[in-house]
Amino acid sequence: MRVLITGASSGIGRQLAMDYLKEGHQVWACGRDAGRLAQLQVLGANVLCFDGRNPQACHQAADEVTDLDLLILNSGSCEYIDNAREFDSLLFARVIETNLIATAHVLAAFLPRLQRGGRLALVSSSVTWLPLPRAEAYGASKAALDYLAATLRLDLAAAGIGVTLVRPGFVATPLTARNDFPMPALQTAERASRLIRHGLARGQHEVHFPRRLIWPLRLLGALPSGLWLRLSRFITRSKDATA
Ligand SMILES: NC(=O)c1ccc[n+]([C@@H]2O[C@H](COP(=O)([O-])OP(=O)(O)OC[C@H]3O[C@@H](n4cnc5c(N)ncnc54)[C@H](OP(=O)(O)O)[C@@H]3O)[C@@H](O)[C@H]2O)c1
Repeated sequence: MRVLITGASSGIGRQLAMDYLKEGHQVWACGRDAGRLAQLQVLGANVLCFDGRNPQACHQAADEVTDLDLLILNSGSCEYIDNAREFDSLLFARVIETNLIATAHVLAAFLPRLQRGGRLALVSSSVTWLPLPRAEAYGASKAALDYLAATLRLDLAAAGIGVTLVRPGFVATPLTARNDFPMPALQTAERASRLIRHGLARGQHEVHFPRRLIWPLRLLGALPSGLWLRLSRFITRSKDATA
């Protein structure tokens, strides 16, 4: 199988690239950090170094690639809105550009390489089940990816291309290493990669994990918004009181 993975220089994407290589697949590993990508090249990956926010760079990179069977759009970043009253619109734009607009540029460049019978995966997040404090930018970018995946699934079906939405819970990577709050049910990148690869191989429309985080999120997300507001303020106050 011919697999292209964005955000392969680090975290979940890097683990996916290493595991697909180990399974004997042809891997295109994408990212911006040439040094970290070179480590994957040593393992046999083809590497493409480009910034997804630059449409021209995406198209130049796509010129290097022939046919693909699996396209995993995984690259992303996370920044939090610490003070919603002084809303940081530049931070918001940065996160939307990296997580959503860059995804569109990469789609425009690489989707034509995906063969009939192939699969596209978009890596969103479990955050879209439940509004969490400070996640205005990250959550909005990922909620947009959920809708994008759902509509692409309809529009790419006639071309014989399947679409999978990946919604991980917390995974230990450089992205979450910056988090200053407890992360329940934290997964390893190895386990995340195993579950994602398994779901993709089965042609699942959605891959989400781990169950012990997802079910509480879904239940809380189904509460009336007023109840979740009161509950989240209670949790924040108890946390502040014990800090
Ligand atoms: N870790 C979690 O708990 C978690 C949970 C839910 C969802 N996710 C999602 O999973 C995906 C991977 O996250 P991770 O935790 O593995 O993060 P990570 O270790 O920080 O890796 C992020 C990757 O995205 C790439 N990237 C960022 N901006 C880019 C840009 N403008 N152009 C090209 N590449 C860019 C980075 O490449 P360079 O370093 O080379 O720039 C890096 O390879 C993200 O979409 C994230 O939102 C993660």
